[in-house]
Amino acid sequence: QLMKVYVTRRIPPEGMKVLTEAGVCKVSVWDSDEPVPRAELLEGVSGAHGLLCLLSDRIDTDTDQHHYRRRSAGYRPNLKVISTLSVGFDHLAINEIKKRGVRVGYTPDVLTDATAELTVALLLATARRLPEGVQEVKSGGWSTWKPLWLCGYGLTGSTVGVIGLGRIGLAIARRLKPFGVKRLLYSGRAAKPQAAEVEGEYVPLDTLVSESDFVVVSCSLTPDTQGLCDKAFFSKMKSTAVFINTSRGSVVNQEDLYEALSSGQIAAAGLDVTTPEPLPTDHPLLTLKNCVVLPHIGSATYSTRGIMGVLSANNLLAGLQGAAMPSELAL
Ligand code: GLV
Ligand code: GLV
Repeated sequence: QLMKVYVTRRIPPEGMKVLTEAGVCKVSVWDSDEPVPRAELLEGVSGAHGLLCLLSDRIDTDTDQHHYRRRSAGYRPNLKVISTLSVGFDHLAINEIKKRGVRVGYTPDVLTDATAELTVALLLATARRLPEGVQEVKSGGWSTWKPLWLCGYGLTGSTVGVIGLGRIGLAIARRLKPFGVKRLLYSGRAAKPQAAEVEGEYVPLDTLVSESDFVVVSCSLTPDTQGLCDKAFFSKMKSTAVFINTSRGSVVNQEDLYEALSSGQIAAAGLDVTTPEPLPTDHPLLTLKNCVVLPHIGSATYSTRGIMGVLSANNLLAGLQGAAMPSELAL
């Protein structure tokens, strides 16, 4: 009597191998690179003991209510564990999940380095205007070496502010420091002892925003951080400052960001995350030269994605068997 598992997307093969070879579950997969249609997801989850999902799957009261309807028709929900192939869990209705006694696995730590590295790459690309430069070379806009052309901002002697000095925020700070950063500010719920390693100064958010040459958002999306970067926020930034977000799109009010970028209130922005994802190709932000948008690829290295696949599979298997998960979210 094998337990049933539903996987909402084609995942890294290393992870799939772990799941299928464990011999404890029958695995159904939405075997595609495209998102599973909602109805298909609800169908797949019903009767399943385990769910392996992505950050693009909304797992909420609706999913839950689907179970309720089935239950009232004499159906008993089986779901024991949800394993998400991500460190973020804002796509999961945690309170509902907790009420139902379902355990949750996620993938912290293993993607910290890859995401911090991408953040540094995005920061440099944005500040030094790499996408614009590449475009000029391709389009023939490069006529000669010009003293005043394609100038940007460097890290040497700068002040960097990291909003949310968690695992990834600290890894970003560690990587940026050797570029000659003079002051490293951070904000968040509380001062952190590990900030000493990067000589981080804990400051109020307003101070960080107004004093930083680079503002890097690396906090999780919660009701507290939703829309945190808005008109008032951008109006406090220096006009020469660069804004970087590799956390979640909803931390930013994109209309306010557009206004700040197009009016010259801030110098540039680099975003690996947006609302919605994908960002429509006719979105105003994409018309701006000083806005660099990436398609949410923070953790996208071959090895990191493979390791995430294996970890999410092992979390799922442990959850099914009532064992300790390698990475369980404390609910
Ligand atoms: C990526 O954004 C993740 O949450 O893993
Ligand atoms: C730049 O290439 C320089 O020689 O200054």
